[in-house]
Amino acid sequence: MSSDPSSSASPSTERVRIRLEPLSVEFEVPRGGSLVAGLVAHGVEFPCGGVGECGGCQVRVLSGALPVTEADAAILTPEELAQGWRLACQARAEEPLVLECGQWHMQILADNQAGALSFPAVISRERIGDHACKRHAIAIDLGTTTIAAQLIDAASGDVLGVETALNPQAAFGSDVMSRIRAVLDGQDLTTPIRAALGELVVRLAGGRAPQVDDVLLAGNTVMHHLFCGLDVEPLAHVPFASPNLGEQRFTARELGWKLPADCSIRFARCIGGFVGSDILAGIVAAGVGRSEDLTALIDLGTNGEIAIGNRRGIVCASTAAGPAFEAGAIRMGMRAVTGAVAYVALGDGVLHATVIGDAPPRGICGSGLVDAIAAGLRTGAILSSGRIADGTKLYSVAPPVVLCQSDVRELQLAKGAIAAGFRLLLKRLGAGVGALRAIQLAGAFGNYVQIESARRIGLLEAPHAIIHAAGNTALRGAKMLLLNGEPALPPIEHVSLAADPGFQEEFAACMSFPASL
Ligand code: FES
Repeated sequence: MSSDPSSSASPSTERVRIRLEPLSVEFEVPRGGSLVAGLVAHGVEFPCGGVGECGGCQVRVLSGALPVTEADAAILTPEELAQGWRLACQARAEEPLVLECGQWHMQILADNQAGALSFPAVISRERIGDHACKRHAIAIDLGTTTIAAQLIDAASGDVLGVETALNPQAAFGSDVMSRIRAVLDGQDLTTPIRAALGELVVRLAGGRAPQVDDVLLAGNTVMHHLFCGLDVEPLAHVPFASPNLGEQRFTARELGWKLPADCSIRFARCIGGFVGSDILAGIVAAGVGRSEDLTALIDLGTNGEIAIGNRRGIVCASTAAGPAFEAGAIRMGMRAVTGAVAYVALGDGVLHATVIGDAPPRGICGSGLVDAIAAGLRTGAILSSGRIADGTKLYSVAPPVVLCQSDVRELQLAKGAIAAGFRLLLKRLGAGVGALRAIQLAGAFGNYVQIESARRIGLLEAPHAIIHAAGNTALRGAKMLLLNGEPALPPIEHVSLAADPGFQEEFAACMSFPASL
């Protein structure tokens, strides 16, 4: 977030209050401080990672003042500026503010808006009209680590409320395989997630709960099976093929949720063993398969999921990337919280680290790791084989934060798996990178990773201009599935990379870092 003002200024200790409409939620920031952390805590996304390039974080000043920044002037039209719209990622609060959050209005996009926001997520006005009688609906992205949900006015598509929570199953391990193992060892992971979501839904709906008559969940295949109480044993071994990939329906009574008895609660269908309805929703949100041009969606997580396609067909796969993108298995790895090195830039051959919260560095998160290794490749401190050139086998990022040889290897495994999967899917389509119109990066890591660093380490082998951060495509797609139903998609082929004879060879080839870029 190199141009995130939070990274460069020194806000005072005095605090100012920010109210966010239309939900009327409030938070405080230091006078002169950035709005980013407070907005993130309320579920607002920063699709380009807060670098002021995408226009996806717009807020309108209803009370108070936010000066027009350079990025505001570059992205917003004079009319929008005059109406009070600003880029939240660039703003600093000098006084109490009341802001309207642009993201909380459903993106009923005209064609000209789609280009500007890089979100070709078109909601049909006609279908929304059909839903006018349906009152309120809830879309839920059930992630392995976090849960995000939105209450939606089904008639207008406007977001009326946002709730986020941690997945309580995390007590049984951070990745899907450990969750499966816990179930096979006799643990019940279904009851806690249903209970947690039941509470979240009631919190989200508040007094409107009696009017909620449609809930749709999207998540990876393991989350789908665990929530639905399905047998996860087939997902524990090759070929990871479950017979229960379809949409599952429930009543509020079955789940013990305090919603109307006739409320429709559905978990959207999965595509394959490790390609769940979060990717189906992502395909819908990112517009994969909507045009003649090839578009790719890549969700960079412990399971890296990739979908590539056009109007004639979509191929998708999941790769066991491992935990490196979330800084798991990295000696000084940590989540993206205060004290984590989030970004590393190179200036005059020296590393400059940005630490979350302007605190002393105490660890490194995924985006910082990718930056640090990219910088090491540029300076020669890390060789293209992955070897740390220094005889100590330690690479200092921002003392006391250092990377050791096994940290670099972990990242090589993760990026090798994604790059190999990407190459194989393109091969399957008989296409080269040149045929791709866009690559949309989904998920939190995709939102914050510096694209140039990802290219330097060979994680993304494509021109910078076609790579975009796409935010939470699972939640946006779930909302579209909820309001519009599943659109007519071309055939989706799930490719099992484990069974592909070319995968190991491609994986080995992708383990090294590019010698130069
Ligand atoms: S412009 Fe603010 S997040 Fe992209």
